[in-house]
Amino acid sequence: MEFSELIKARKSVRGYLPKPVPREVIEEIIEVAKWSPSSMNTQPWYVHVVTGEPLDRIRRGNTENMVKGVPPKRDFPMKEAYDGIHRKRQVDIAIQLFDAMGIARDDKERRTDWVMRGFRQFDAPVSLVLTYDKYLEPAAISQFDLGALSHALVLAAWERGLGSVINGQGIMQSAVVREHAGIPDDQNIMICIAMGYPDEDFVANSVKSVREDAANFVRYVGF
Ligand SMILES: Cc1cc2nc3c(=O)[nH]c(=O)nc-3n(C[C@H](O)[C@H](O)[C@H](O)COP(=O)(O)O)c2cc1C
Repeated sequence: MEFSELIKARKSVRGYLPKPVPREVIEEIIEVAKWSPSSMNTQPWYVHVVTGEPLDRIRRGNTENMVKGVPPKRDFPMKEAYDGIHRKRQVDIAIQLFDAMGIARDDKERRTDWVMRGFRQFDAPVSLVLTYDKYLEPAAISQFDLGALSHALVLAAWERGLGSVINGQGIMQSAVVREHAGIPDDQNIMICIAMGYPDEDFVANSVKSVREDAANFVRYVGF
């Protein structure tokens, strides 16, 4: 697939077939994605590829904590509420997803169910947990590098017929992920990527998010 075609075709996948992903395919994806650029070529990332029973334990732990009302705790500070255009875009994608799923605004049960699916990483067969060394804090530039790796991972996966969704929901209870994925204490958990073969019948997978006109966020200087 042409790169321009690939980057435009990829979309987040939130429904998966219960079909295992061969380890060799994940290895191939990582071999491609590791060519991502990083600040001073530090390559500050670790990728913990989790499946099977450990991933199920993470799903259960996340779910139990969220049901009990345990406040989310990530390994890095994060703004919890967005304003203005950012809030609007956040709401717009939620509306697109709920509309596709036929979930009404006042249907609290199904909305909660959807959120819980997120904490289970959409029941994907695999999760890639991305971490970096704690001593790198304040780690904005390393976190940026992990972002570059993430995009390469999801594109390399898409090229191989695998869907994915980069998700914060899966690592919001970082202690749960740390315990069941065996993440060393000297690493910070940044993000996870749920991955698997897309369930083409899952309606939320048909959602195509929108993008701003470049004219609204680009300035050309000195042209
Ligand atoms: C850092 C990051 C965190 C995300 N967290 C979640 C999440 O917790 N749950 C979710 O459903 N999608 C999550 N997403 C997916 C975004 O909602 C999605 O990328 C965005 O709406 C654009 O849609 P697209 O990926 O289909 O192009 C996340 C994406 C990124 C990059």
